[in-house]
Order: sequence, then structure tokens, then C-alpha cells
Amino acid sequence: MAIGTITTMAADGAPLARRLRPFTTTIFATMSELATATGSVNLGQGFPDTDGPDELREVAVAAIRHGANQYPPSAGVPELRHAVAAHQDTWYGMELDPDSEVLVTVGATEATAACVLALCEPGDEVVMFEPTYDSYAACCAMAGAVPRLVRLHPPDWEFDPDELVSAVGPRTKLILLNSPHNPTGKVFGPDELAQIAALCTAHDLLAVTDEVYEHLVFDGTHLPLATLPQMRERTLTVSSGGKTFSFTGWKVGWVCGPAPLVAAVRAVKQFLTYTSPAPFQLAVAAGLGFAPDALGAPAAELVAKRDLLCEGLAALGHTVYRPAATYFATTDITTVAPGLSAEEYCRALPGRCGVVAIPSSVFYDPADPGAGRTLVRWAFCKREPVLVDALARLASW
Ligand SMILES: Cc1ncc(COP(=O)(O)O)c(C=O)c1O
Repeated sequence: MAIGTITTMAADGAPLARRLRPFTTTIFATMSELATATGSVNLGQGFPDTDGPDELREVAVAAIRHGANQYPPSAGVPELRHAVAAHQDTWYGMELDPDSEVLVTVGATEATAACVLALCEPGDEVVMFEPTYDSYAACCAMAGAVPRLVRLHPPDWEFDPDELVSAVGPRTKLILLNSPHNPTGKVFGPDELAQIAALCTAHDLLAVTDEVYEHLVFDGTHLPLATLPQMRERTLTVSSGGKTFSFTGWKVGWVCGPAPLVAAVRAVKQFLTYTSPAPFQLAVAAGLGFAPDALGAPAAELVAKRDLLCEGLAALGHTVYRPAATYFATTDITTVAPGLSAEEYCRALPGRCGVVAIPSSVFYDPADPGAGRTLVRWAFCKREPVLVDALARLASW
């Protein structure tokens, strides 16, 4: 029997693999492969094409040279746990005990998965805003939990408060909030956060907040849900160093919140990865100690790139939803590609123009094929000449 057959049989027989199959979308891989095969400019996956500060690279290199090469503590090196606690205090006035209220993870991805696995029983419901970052539905599938989706509507990506209220039922366990939000670039405002908080307290729900773009905000102010009244004791705040420092490959993240919840997440993390690479933890700890101006520098650079891409796409006829934060802009392609779905457009784009983008339909419920049908996500975390080149290529559509 061929190895491939054995693998297929094993996957078919595995309930978890079956549950995950709808979420193992190949679109990102397909688009990146298409980008390589066609020599396209890749505005698909969200990673910068320049590295972060040399100073942090040197910390990681020095850490390797000086012996930070064996298992660090499972909860994370003390330097990073203290740096995360100090960061939350400096930026948001949140006081945390670095020993019991901060846990280091392998990126925000592991942090979110471990939170959902730790907090949800099979059948529990998780309220989240759609479009959703792609790992969330998969986290629910792994935990046997059920996503309850609340739609964000362009142009401002607002939600209907009644829809949010009716998404909460007797099995709701937690609200999984991503702000600043991928793919829309929305920063949830104080009124919206207050509505979410009111629902959490009224129904005794927990909250998990993914804040990986906290330092990439251009318009408005990022406010962690945990800072709202009565939310600290029921919220796990997730973030990571990848976006803040432009080292997305380092995969150093963290969870912070009340000690009993962090302990539950730590119990799961212990058997997912046990610990995270020590040299990168030390480098991210050094970065979190940067002065606020230095931490804000990437956002100041990105805003010009956002404007360049958004104005260029608008000039080409796209309806542009200018993001308030993150790496991504969304456009509606109805006027530039009448009759085409975003997926058809994005599949044709590399061959016709030499550009790769992501159809936003992948961030919507696969059971609702009309959702996000004409929306496309474009990453602008690239060098300006790359964006200029992409826009010139797109002009030939
Ligand atoms: C909303 C959101 N959460 C989490 C992640 C992943 O973060 P990390 O690389 O730290 O796992 C991303 C990366 O694109 C993201 O957009």
C-alpha cells in the first residue's frame, strides 16, 4: 500500500482531521505558489518584506552565542514575562503579576488555540466577528466548540448590536475578539467595546482578545477589552512580537489575564509545545522595553504605504475600505471585475497582471458562499517600490 493511501486513510479515520478539513483552506498556499510560479508581486500573505530592528536581531544572535539554547521555563523566560507585564502597565495601565498572570506562547496562534482549548467544552459556543481571522474557526473545531458569527458590515465594518445580543445563548462560553481586526483593519471603538463588555458581564462570559496589531494603528486608539470595568477578571489578552517588531517568523506570543485562567491555558500549552524558543523570547523582551516612540515607528511608516496602496487602488476603480490599522486594505472589485467573484478575480490576477491578493471570502463561513463574494484583501506591509510596481501591473487588468 502506498504511503499516500495510508495517510489518506488515517486522515479519514481521524475525527479531528475531519473536523478541521473545512478550515484547512489551501488558498494562502495556492496564492503563494502562484506568486512564485508567475513571478508575481505577493500582496497576499501578511508579512513585511523588510526585517525589524537590527538591535533585536543582535540580541537573538548574542543569546544563541551565550548559551540560551536549552529548554527555557514552560511559562516563558522571566525577562519576557516581566517585559510583557511592564508593557501592559505602561501602555494600558494594566497591572499584572509576571509570574502568574503572563504566559509566553509560540505566537498568538498558539495562544489563541490554547485559550479556546482550555476554556471550551465540546458543544460550547464562541461568539466572534465575521470576517474572522482564519485560525479561529479551526480552534473551535479542535475544541469541539461551535462558532457563532456576528457580521461586520462595510464601509465602516460596524456590527448590528441586536445581532450581537442574539448570538449569545445558553451554551455561549466566550467572546473571541480581534481588535485591531484582520482582515478589515477595523479598530473596535469604546462604545462597541462597552457593548461587548456589557454582554460578557450580563451573561457571565469569558473573553479572549487577539491584539497582535496593537501597535499598528493609524486612525483612532487601540483599547484592550480587559481595561473596561469588570473585564479584567474575565479576559485573556493575547498578543505577539511578530507584527510589532516586523519579525513574523520568530513566533513569540503571550497571553495575560487573571491567574486561574492563565493557569488553565498554561496546562494546555504545556502539551502543545511545552515552551517557545529562548533566543527570540529574549529579543522580544528587549523590544518591549523600547520607548513608546520607537514602538510606534512601524505604524508611522506603514501609514504612508496604506495611503499609497489605497489611493492607487481607488484610482484603478476599486471601492476601497481604508483600514484604520493592521497590514491590510480591503476593496470591492465589483466595478473593476463585473460578474467575477473575488476568488475568480484573485485566481486570474497572477496570470493576467502578476499580482497576488487574497479573496476575503476565505474569512467568511464556508457554509455561506455569498459572503464576502466581491471583497479582496491586499497586504501593504511591503516596500514602497513594490507597491508602486504592483499598482502599475494592476493597471493592465
Ligand atoms: C489576527 C491575527 N492573529 C494572529 C496572527 C498570528 O500571530 P502569530 O504569528 O504571533 O502567531 C495573525 C497573523 O497574521 C493575525 O492576523
